[in-house]
Amino acid sequence: MKLLIVFITIVCIERCYALRGKHHYRSINTPIPANFSVKWYSQRVDHFSYVNNDRYNQRYIISTDHWGEGCPIFLYAGNEGDIFMFANNTGFMWQNAQRFQAMILFAEHRYYGQSIPYGKLDRNLTHLGYLTTEQALADFAEFIQYIKETIPGAHNSPVVVFGGSYGGMLAAWFRIKYPHLTIGALAASAPILQFPGLYNCNDYFNIVTNDFKQYSDKCSQSIRNSWPAVRRLLASSDGRKWLSDTFVLCKPLADTQDQDFITWLSSTWENLAMIDYPNNASFLQPLPAFPIKETCKRLTNPDQNDKQLIQDIYNAASVYYNYTGSAKCNDISVEAQDLGTDGWSFQACTEMVLPVCSNGETDMFEKNEWNITKYSDNCYKNYGVKSDGEKALVLFGGKHITTATNIIFSNGLRDPWSAGGVLQTVSPSLIAIQIPNACHHEDLRPVGPNDPPALRDARNQEITIIMKWINDYYLKLSFNPFNEINY
Ligand SMILES: *[C@@H]1O[C@H](CO)[C@@H](O)[C@H](O)[C@H]1NC(C)=O
Ligand SMILES: *[C@@H]1O[C@H](CO)[C@@H](O)[C@H](O)[C@H]1NC(C)=O
Ligand SMILES: *[C@@H]1O[C@H](CO)[C@@H](O)[C@H](O)[C@H]1NC(C)=O
Ligand SMILES: *[C@@H]1O[C@H](CO)[C@@H](O)[C@H](O)[C@H]1NC(C)=O
Ligand SMILES: *[C@@H]1O[C@H](CO)[C@@H](O)[C@H](O)[C@H]1NC(C)=O
Ligand SMILES: *[C@@H]1O[C@H](CO)[C@@H](O)[C@H](O)[C@H]1NC(C)=O
Repeated sequence: MKLLIVFITIVCIERCYALRGKHHYRSINTPIPANFSVKWYSQRVDHFSYVNNDRYNQRYIISTDHWGEGCPIFLYAGNEGDIFMFANNTGFMWQNAQRFQAMILFAEHRYYGQSIPYGKLDRNLTHLGYLTTEQALADFAEFIQYIKETIPGAHNSPVVVFGGSYGGMLAAWFRIKYPHLTIGALAASAPILQFPGLYNCNDYFNIVTNDFKQYSDKCSQSIRNSWPAVRRLLASSDGRKWLSDTFVLCKPLADTQDQDFITWLSSTWENLAMIDYPNNASFLQPLPAFPIKETCKRLTNPDQNDKQLIQDIYNAASVYYNYTGSAKCNDISVEAQDLGTDGWSFQACTEMVLPVCSNGETDMFEKNEWNITKYSDNCYKNYGVKSDGEKALVLFGGKHITTATNIIFSNGLRDPWSAGGVLQTVSPSLIAIQIPNACHHEDLRPVGPNDPPALRDARNQEITIIMKWINDYYLKLSFNPFNEINY
């Protein structure tokens, strides 16, 4: 038995080994494979105490079309949403499966999509308290063990972890915390430095503003002028009614909802700045190529009366909310937003404290200072928890990550989240890839006809680095008398 396993391993390593030395990659456009299965892993709710033995069903997507025994495993570390949202928008993994003979796995993050401990997402802290990054990372660790133990031939397969945004943070942190379970991580648009005291909180909104200003000054100026106009309208019940009608809101604005409306409108521009992709896409919303360009076509006169200006603002926001023309009404509640579900709001209130602030001068938003006391008080009011802005730094090191190896930090420089990204290479194996003109984890997106050369270069660089990790792994494996990797 042992001999057979050694034999199989050697055969497959040879097979995967043959990939060595090929450093010129064609730009391939393999369609997303139709052959995948959705499965469930009975996962531990609590990894860190021995008191709670409850389990929940963690959903995952698996595809073995191109995989053979001993060949690599690509695992996407699911983030704050339905796992299909990420599987649908991470063409990079699917399109490179054949080249790497990789097994493709997408593991859903606990408390999102259909992987909800205790059935239904509610705010009962006895249930919600297990929604932490440490628990989520431990889920991925157990999940990898499970895959390696249960899929014949997977035992010695090297695992590469991928993730975008918060998923990218998880991918990087997974490599930092569990280096024996993964040979490396591609952390795309992962703002691991966007914590209190580590970065300038104004940078996020400055980047959003520049993304609009780049199309036209009138565009960013219209948005800047819209805030006082909206405030004037919100001040009267007639004005609120007019806003509710004009924006086709699902529920008329109550007099307690001024800030909710402003936040919703502001999130429109923030989201557009994240996804101003060169190809049409359906990530947060179905949108045309370069949606900000489309938006700015509708914002050409910043100096009109309040109602005219806000009518334009509605038309511009409709590019985001209603490009297909099928939106019945606009729902400004937090729950209605694609990302930023209740689960993420809770995480943002506990460990994932990512400060943003605006000054209304260098950016086109209302002045809004970062105030951790106010922020935390609000969290206590909503969830009964206080925020711990230090936690992630203690757990994962903040800037102090030089002891880690094999992580790629990629960032599109027009992405507001690049403000908190690792933009400079830290060491020979902690490599930063800056992608000028690109947006939020654009490198993970499927290859598209309008991809700029810098994006294609970034992807090729990533492929070369990942290939090297894999080759190094197999080299080590073949020199190891037990054919096991023991770090
Ligand atoms: C899907 O599976 C079928 C049957 O095994 C196979 O013929 C086909 O090539 C697979 N598709 C892809 C994209 O690998
Ligand atoms: C993923 O894509 C499939 C096929 O286009 C679609 O049916 C599904 O709704 C998408 N899921 C999500 C969460 O985007
Ligand atoms: C929260 O859930 C626990 C465990 O199911 C239950 O005992 C408790 O009564 C719930 N608390 C509230 C406020 O619903
Ligand atoms: C992009 O546009 C083409 C042509 O209109 C359409 O077939 C395709 O589904 C769109 N893709 C996305 C992701 O919206
Ligand atoms: C979306 O567009 C359609 C067609 O133009 C329009 O009838 C509808 O009211 C719009 N929905 C919203 C929420 O603006
Ligand atoms: C921060 O918020 C708290 C609570 O709302 C308030 O008391 C304090 O004055 C604020 N600090 C600053 C610097 O504005």
